Amino acid sequence: MAHIKCQITNDKCLCRLHEFPYLIRHPEKMKMIYLDNAATSWPKPPEVFDAMNLFMRDLGGNPGRSGHRMATGAEAMIGECRNAVSKFFGLNDPAGCVFTLNCTDALNIAIKGVVKQGDHVITTALEHNSISRPLQQMADSGFITLTRVVPEIEKGAWHVEEITKELRSNTRLVALTHCANVTGVINPIEALGAALRAANPKILFLVDAAQSAGIVPINMETGNIDFLAFPGHKALYAPTGTGALLIGPRVRGEELNCFREGGTGGDSASPLQPIELPHRLEGGTPNTMGIAGMLAGIRFLNKQGPAKILEHERAIVKRFIDAFSADKRFTIYGTTDLSRKVGALSITIKDRDNAETASILDQAFEIAVRPGLHCAPYTHKHLGTFPTGTLRVAPGFFTTLEEADTAIHALQEIAS
Ligand SMILES: Cc1ncc(COP(=O)(O)O)c(C=O)c1O
Repeated sequence: MAHIKCQITNDKCLCRLHEFPYLIRHPEKMKMIYLDNAATSWPKPPEVFDAMNLFMRDLGGNPGRSGHRMATGAEAMIGECRNAVSKFFGLNDPAGCVFTLNCTDALNIAIKGVVKQGDHVITTALEHNSISRPLQQMADSGFITLTRVVPEIEKGAWHVEEITKELRSNTRLVALTHCANVTGVINPIEALGAALRAANPKILFLVDAAQSAGIVPINMETGNIDFLAFPGHKALYAPTGTGALLIGPRVRGEELNCFREGGTGGDSASPLQPIELPHRLEGGTPNTMGIAGMLAGIRFLNKQGPAKILEHERAIVKRFIDAFSADKRFTIYGTTDLSRKVGALSITIKDRDNAETASILDQAFEIAVRPGLHCAPYTHKHLGTFPTGTLRVAPGFFTTLEEADTAIHALQEIAS
C-alpha cells in the first residue's frame, strides 16, 4: 500500500484517515478509555479481526449457494460456528441455531414467529425496547394481551413468584431479560424456567441474554429455555451485525411464522420457505464475514474462560462501587452485590446532567460511557430515573484497573 501524507500527523503513514472522515482521532493517537461495553464490546480481540480478514481474503464464497470449494468452505465455517455456539449454550441440536443481525432481530423473529392472535404474554419492566416495543405494538393492536410485571420486592431484579402469579390459561410466552442492561443485575432465569415448565408445559420461555451471553453460564436444556436471543457484538466479542436466536427442541419449524422469505441455498424447487430450521428463519445470504468473527469470538471466550472475564469485570465495577457508595454526591442504582451483577453500573451525580457529564468525559477526558435511558424506559421509570436516565459505566475484558481509576478521578472531578 502506498504511503500518503497524513493530514493529522503531517507525515507519511498508512492511517488512510482522509477516507474515513468520521474517525475523529488519528488511530495511533487514540487513547480512549472505553467503558461502553454494554452497548458493544471494544476493542475486539485480534483473533476476531484476523479471522474476518482471512475469511474476506481467502474464503469469500456464498455459503450453500454453489458447489465450488470457496462456497463449501464458507458453509463449513458457518456449520462450525453453529456447532460452537450451540455447545456453548447447551443446545443439543445445532439446527436450532439461527444467525441474526443482532439481538433485536433475534427477539423479533422469536416473538413475531411464535405468538398467535389471542395469546397472553408476560414480560417485565426491566426490558430493553427490543422486547417492549414489539409486544406493546401487538397489545395496542389487540392481537395479544400483555402483562408487564413491575418488580416490587427489590430494585433491579424480579422474583420468580412475581412472574408465575400472572400466569393465565392462555399464556403462550414469557419473554424477559436475563440481565438488566441499565443496572447489570442478573435475574434468576433457571428457577423461573423450572417454575414455568412445572406450571404449564405449553408456555414457551424466551430469554433475552444480550448482557449475559458469553460471560454468565446459560444452559438451554437445564434452564428450560425455548428461545435464547443474544448479540454477537457484546460479550461474544464478535463484530456488529451479528447475533443469534437459539431454538430449543420443543419448538418445531412449522410452528414459527417467518416474515423473511427467500433463498436458502437448498430446496430451491419449493414454492414456499422450507419448514426445517435453521433455513426457515435464515432467508438470504448470511453475514459470513461476521460469523467468521463470531466463531473466533467463541474460541476466544473458550480460551480465556467466561468465569475469568466476569471476575475481571466485577473487579472493575467494585472499584467504582467502593469509590462512590459512601460519597453522597453519587447514587448507585440496583444491587451492589457483585455476585448478582455483570460488569455494568448505573450512577447519577447530584446536580449534574448525565448527558453533559458524558460529553465532558468524552471531550475532556477521552472516556466513553453511555448516558440516558439505554433503550429501557420502563426500567428507568421503575428506578425513578425517567426521563433523564443515568450514566452507565460498562467495562469489558480489555479494561484495566488503571483505566477504571482514571475514570473514577474524572467523575469525582466533575462531581466537585
Ligand atoms: C437487554 C438488551 N436486550 C436487547 C438489546 C438489543 O441488542 P442489539 O443492539 O444487538 O439489537 C440490548 C442492547 O443493548 C440489550 O441490552
